[in-house]
Amino acid sequence: MSLLLGKPAAQQLREKQFQRVNNLRAKDLIPRLDIILLCQSLDESPYVLAKKKACEDISIECVIHQFPVHTSQSDLLHYIHALNHDPACGALICQLPLGAHIDTEEVVRAIDKTKDIDGFHPENMGGLALGHSDVFVPCTPAGILYLLRYYNIPLLGKHIVILGRSRIVGLPLHLLLSQKTVGATVTLCHSQTPHLADFCRRADILIAATGKAHLVKADWISPDTILVDVGITQVPDPNARRGYSLQGDIDPEAGEKARAVTPVPGGVGPLTVAMVIENCLKAWEKRLD
Ligand code: GUN
Repeated sequence: MSLLLGKPAAQQLREKQFQRVNNLRAKDLIPRLDIILLCQSLDESPYVLAKKKACEDISIECVIHQFPVHTSQSDLLHYIHALNHDPACGALICQLPLGAHIDTEEVVRAIDKTKDIDGFHPENMGGLALGHSDVFVPCTPAGILYLLRYYNIPLLGKHIVILGRSRIVGLPLHLLLSQKTVGATVTLCHSQTPHLADFCRRADILIAATGKAHLVKADWISPDTILVDVGITQVPDPNARRGYSLQGDIDPEAGEKARAVTPVPGGVGPLTVAMVIENCLKAWEKRLD
């Protein structure tokens, strides 16, 4: 089994991204990422802190707009509209998930599609489905494709099975990998798929994004399978510094058996963050057109 580490791939991207930040600054554009986050404390959102750190590492400003968890739908829409109209904001994320009192669909649609670096706006997601090249591709799917290409894993003619149909990963990943330029056959499985193990056994590449720790068992895969683990479930662990450890969707025994596997943490995560920066720069560079 070989490990598909995310950091070297992200590092390769970072060097080019740093140059792009300098080019923008030379043209009097100050790249900035705005993140709206509904939470009690920033410590609850390691993802947002990772995005902020990645920005700061290459001199992109990152402004976190932190509001209480129970912020109303209308207040949230008001903040989004204000940022849509603020010329200093060129890239805007509203961190998901939002509380059950919020209509996520309406929030996603409210973000200016030219600032929607998550690629969740219907026009970006629809453009992805149609193979348009000028849309923002959601960051985790874009990161997974980058990682597979970085490690020279052939996709043409392969059968890729995706577990999970979320807006953030499974659904856009299905659209991305189904494109003609990739040439794979893609199966999207979800919580209502019967005989999940049978689908997994027919995968050349299995991408698990369900949030169910250790779901994929060793007897669901063959020794030739490439495994991509998007899961990051917090499991209580008295020996861990934070009181929990992060566990992927793939059982460690399955990881041992596979041809290659992305570790958790340290596999897909660094690429997701790298693609946030990539899309942020793309949003700012469009202003030069
Ligand atoms: N929550 C987990 N991943 C993501 C992401 O990529 N974007 C947003 N907005 N929220 C998330």
